[in-house]
Amino acid sequence: MNVSIVNTLLEVKDLQVFFKGIKTITALSGISFSIAESETLSLVGETGCGKSVAAHAIMRLLPSEARVKGIVKFRGKNLLELSEKEMVEIRGKEIGIIFQNPSLALNPVYSIGHQLAEPLCVHKKEKKEKALFMAAGALKNMGFANTAEYIRYYPSWCSGGMNQRFLIAASTILGPALLIADEPGKGLDRKRVSELETELKKLKFKNKTALLLISHDLSFVQRLADRVAVMYAGEIVEMADSSSIFEEPLHPYSKGLLNSLPEKGFIPIPGFSPSLSNLPSGCRFYPRCSLRKRHCIENHPDLKKINGRAVRCFLYP
Ligand SMILES: Nc1ncnc2c1ncn2[C@@H]1O[C@H](COP(=O)(O)OP(=O)(O)OP(=O)(O)O)[C@@H](O)[C@H]1O
Ligand code: SF4
Ligand SMILES: [Mg+2]
Repeated sequence: MNVSIVNTLLEVKDLQVFFKGIKTITALSGISFSIAESETLSLVGETGCGKSVAAHAIMRLLPSEARVKGIVKFRGKNLLELSEKEMVEIRGKEIGIIFQNPSLALNPVYSIGHQLAEPLCVHKKEKKEKALFMAAGALKNMGFANTAEYIRYYPSWCSGGMNQRFLIAASTILGPALLIADEPGKGLDRKRVSELETELKKLKFKNKTALLLISHDLSFVQRLADRVAVMYAGEIVEMADSSSIFEEPLHPYSKGLLNSLPEKGFIPIPGFSPSLSNLPSGCRFYPRCSLRKRHCIENHPDLKKINGRAVRCFLYP
């Protein structure tokens, strides 16, 4: 008997985010996905499709003007219903996040060593000296040679790429069960990206860390992700295991996204994403889709399951 036990760690159901202003921006229109222990799910899609908003909504880090609806269940608890005090306990300790902009995520007034050691002192009750020793070990893992020197550095003394590596060390130092990595390879050269890949794989296989990976680097995604969710204008248009997405994408947008890769000839998708304050009532990809039919203008396709994957397009009944 083949019984596979999947331990779902995170379950996002119908997550919606609106920004209220002169015009309401619908940044997320109800996305749903789950991530199991030690699984890597990647969110991909063009700029502005809602990847970072999704990451921030899960962590409850959106600004006050954001309205969030839906369910974000982590280890059975709906994070959207927890108090801020309970969320502080979860952030960093159980869910780590690597922000898209490292210089905003590091505190300029504290040394790197202090910022790495602090969570160990607060959450693990480590003594300062031991915490600094562990901080140096975390930096070594991120490829820093002279760690005793680097722990005395301040973010402003360092390049964007170095700060990105400090941030990765800081977000994984407590051994979170889930790591949300928003463009973790941004600003890193090829060698560092490959080191980062090794580090993330180590977290997955040694620590069983689950990863929500957001990246524009599709070959990095292909090497790391178990499953991929393709987003377009605030919704998921296709979700499948990584090899299916890369070898046989179904949605016309997924196909276009892959064709825009340098190795596929750099063919850009013509046109632009729709305005999130004035979304079309039919298929959101309609104006850019070469396979559109009249039906697509007036009707909004649902995300339908076919053969263990999901696609939002009328071409697939
Ligand atoms: N505080 C905010 N107020 C109003 N709109 C916002 C706010 N934050 C994000 N948005 C809008 O939400 C949409 C989704 O933004 P998001 O940052 O999630 O995109 P993204 O997919 O991460 O893009 P990128 O690949 O460039 O990082 C964008 O249109 C953005 O302008
Ligand atoms: S629903 Fe129609 S317009 Fe939308 S992606 Fe499919 S074929 Fe293209
Ligand atoms: Mg982003």
